Amino acid sequence: MTKQKALAKIAVAIARCALCRRGKIGKPVPGEGNPNAKVVFVGEAPGREEAKTGRPFVGRAGKLLRSLMKDIGLSEKAVYITNPVKRLPKYGTPKKPDIIHGRMHLQKQLRVIKPKLVVLLGRVAGQAFFDEPISVTKMHGRIIIKDGIKYFITLHPSAVLRFQKFRRILIGDFKKLKAFI
Ligand code: URA
Repeated sequence: MTKQKALAKIAVAIARCALCRRGKIGKPVPGEGNPNAKVVFVGEAPGREEAKTGRPFVGRAGKLLRSLMKDIGLSEKAVYITNPVKRLPKYGTPKKPDIIHGRMHLQKQLRVIKPKLVVLLGRVAGQAFFDEPISVTKMHGRIIIKDGIKYFITLHPSAVLRFQKFRRILIGDFKKLKAFI
């Protein structure tokens, strides 16, 4: 089976998944991008725009993410963008059971794509991969290797939309990211 077909199959499973639906609203947002991506960006959960369209990172935070990618010469067509939580939680920020469940789908996607680097955008993305909570403000801009997979930790773009002081940090991290890829 091609990677594209395998990802499409996972997207169907996500759309049909009753657990993904629990406490959530809107369309499923499985993720999108290049099945052969070397870099995968992992966010948190869909927001309102994403739940309306079924596409990840198309709202305000998404526009910022996509423009930062462009600034470092990363084409949207070259990467894959996804979230551990595949539908918009009614209560906004996803809870631990949402992340624990959703990461099962995410891990399947990563096993198909086999990227060289997984970029973790914020705390929830970190929670999906590490059992110990990671301090994003302390660990950002660094690569962590776990089970042979390289992770790059940075802030979630929506943190920058909320607090201007984070803008410089996120821009700096993307410059480092450029050097790594
Ligand atoms: N924020 C996320 O974490 N993911 C999206 O897809 C959109 C906004």
